[in-house]
Order: sequence, then C-alpha cells, then structure tokens
Amino acid sequence: MNRDEDLEDKLISLFQWLHAHPEIGFEEKNTTARLRDELEQAGIEVLDSGLPTGLIARITGTRPGKVIGLRCDIDALPIREESGLPYSSQNEGRMHACGHDSHATIMLGAALLLNRHRQTMRGTVKIIFQPAEEVIGGAQRVMATGLLDDLNMILGVHSYPGFPAGTLGLAEGSVMASVDRFAITIHGMGTHAAEPQRGIDPIVVQAALVQSLQTIVSRSVSPFSHSVVSVTHVESGSTWNVIPETAVLEGTVRTLEPADRTFIENKIRKMTQLVAEAYDAEADVTWIPGPAAVVNDSALYHVAAKAAKQMGFKVGKPEDTMGGEDFSCYLERCPGLFIRVGTGGGYPSHHPRFTVDPSALYPAAWFFSGLTLDLQDA
Ligand code: NI
Repeated sequence: MNRDEDLEDKLISLFQWLHAHPEIGFEEKNTTARLRDELEQAGIEVLDSGLPTGLIARITGTRPGKVIGLRCDIDALPIREESGLPYSSQNEGRMHACGHDSHATIMLGAALLLNRHRQTMRGTVKIIFQPAEEVIGGAQRVMATGLLDDLNMILGVHSYPGFPAGTLGLAEGSVMASVDRFAITIHGMGTHAAEPQRGIDPIVVQAALVQSLQTIVSRSVSPFSHSVVSVTHVESGSTWNVIPETAVLEGTVRTLEPADRTFIENKIRKMTQLVAEAYDAEADVTWIPGPAAVVNDSALYHVAAKAAKQMGFKVGKPEDTMGGEDFSCYLERCPGLFIRVGTGGGYPSHHPRFTVDPSALYPAAWFFSGLTLDLQDA
C-alpha cells in the first residue's frame, strides 16, 4: 500500500469529528456541511442535488468510460453512547453505532485519492453520501434527484465488526434481506364477555392467525432458502369483561429471494382472509414494502476479490444476516457490490459500546479508489 500519512491523519480526524457529532436520519445538517467543506477544499465538484441533507459529488476523468457510484450512508442512531472513547458523542442520545461515520470517512478518502488521478482517469465517479439509511427512505430520495440515472455500477461500504482491520468481507448473491412490514386488522363484533355467542371475538381470530403465520416459513418455504416471518405487535381489548370489536397485529417479513418475498406476501393475505372467514370475522392486510434484498453482482464480486488480494487484504465471507439495507434501491438501477470492511471492536452494530478501529479507514479508502480504477479499465 502507498501509505500517505497526511491523508491517513486527515481521515482519522474527520472520522473522530463525525463520531463526536452524530445526527439521525434527515437531520444530518452539520455532517453534510462538514463533508461539503472537505470536498470543496479538495476542488471536488458537489452536484446541485437539492437534497436538504446528504451530498452527491462527482469526479470526471479526461477519457470516456463508465459511470461508477461509490455509496456511503451518513446518519446515526438514537442511542446513548457508552463506548468511553475520548471522541464520544457530544450529541445527547445520538450515536454512530452502525459505523456510518466510518463509511463517510472511507468514501471521502476514496474521493480524495481518485481526485489525484483525475488527469489520467477514464469515466466518471459519483460519490454518494446518503442520508437516512437507518430510518429507510434516504436512498429513494437520492435516486429521486435523477442524478444517478446514468450509473453503470455502484459499490457500497459497510463496517463489519466480525473481521479485524485489514480484512474485507465479500460475497456474491444475496447478502442482506428484504425488509417488509405488515399490519393486520381483524374486525369482529363486540359483546359482553359473558355472552360470547352474541358477538365475534377478534382475539380468538388473532390467536389462530399468529399460530397459522408461523407455519408459512416452516411448512411452505424451502428449507434451503432463508426467510423470516415475525409477529411483533399484538393488540386488542381494554378490559376484562368485554369482548372487543377489533384486534390488530403487526410484524415483519425478511427474505433473501425475490420469489419468496412475493410468495409470503400472498400467503399472508390468503391465510388472513381464510382464518378470519372460519370464525365469521373480517380482516384486512396492509403490506408496507421496504428495501428489497441486497444482491451482489457476481462479475463485480470476482473483480473485487482479485483486487483485494492483490492489494494485500485478507478476504472473508461475512456471516449471513436477515438485516436489511436500502443499498438495494440503487441495485434496481444497475449492478453493484456491497462490501464489508473489517473494523473489529468486539461489539455488534447498534450496541452502545460499538466501536470502529480507525486503522481500517485509510486502507479501505485506498481499496475503494483502487477498485474503482480497476473497474474503469476492466
Ligand atoms: Ni448501517
């Protein structure tokens, strides 16, 4: 690796500043201002996106080539930090507990490195500092600017506490799940608890439905594909001697395969209808689709794995997760690769003691800039 101590120090101090000043989704004003400053100081063009928070920067080479996106997210979580770091959060109840401070630092570093190659570079690189990944909706806003309509491919970054600094997590195919939400309302008929025959008890329907939904994954989906149906919120009634009118339940569905996603939605709708009907009740299902599964492109995976090894990184396969990521929103436009950067630390993300090993930052920035150049020449 060509070590550049000045840049390394600069990135570490940027990271520590971002870590100390976490802002949650759609409130990333100071974060955006700081990143804009860094880009403009380096003479990197910041596009006029109209985004209230978040940025899209562009580096244009001197020769024709592909349009490659480098995407990071910049928002923090509503968590009270307990890491004990000297650069801990100064914003009460806010914390970079998912490493988005490191993601922004890595992609800023990659931008600075690529900017040095501007005179000889092919194509265009668009660096996306996306707001509001945790609250969902940030990626859609960024896509809605239209500034990424010409992307040919995109690389995403995420910190990974399961590997130490110096290891990259790469995998092809589905690596993060789709994240959908459902809400079901059961309409019964209220009555006195002592005279159930005069009403329709929605709680009995609700209980039957919770049990039935559990059989979708265990009985109807292949054990070789991965999916989850979790009922997480049930509510009905308000006292002990009244059979209520309605019952509601809510939950989430996670899948790695698009076919399972559609199948499970349809199955939930059908089961709800038929179970309600069996008890003479009525029910309606609200389906709230979230991000699709993140599916890594195989060709990009092979180029990245080769580049990582050539650049002296260890490469590992991250543990499978049913967590989601709105990086998939970009993948509806073009192929991409979501790359995990080993950041050590010992605590999982979203934990109040989550930390990122700052020594991972510069090498990761160097990797992303190198891979981008490789992809332009491939
Ligand atoms: Ni995250």
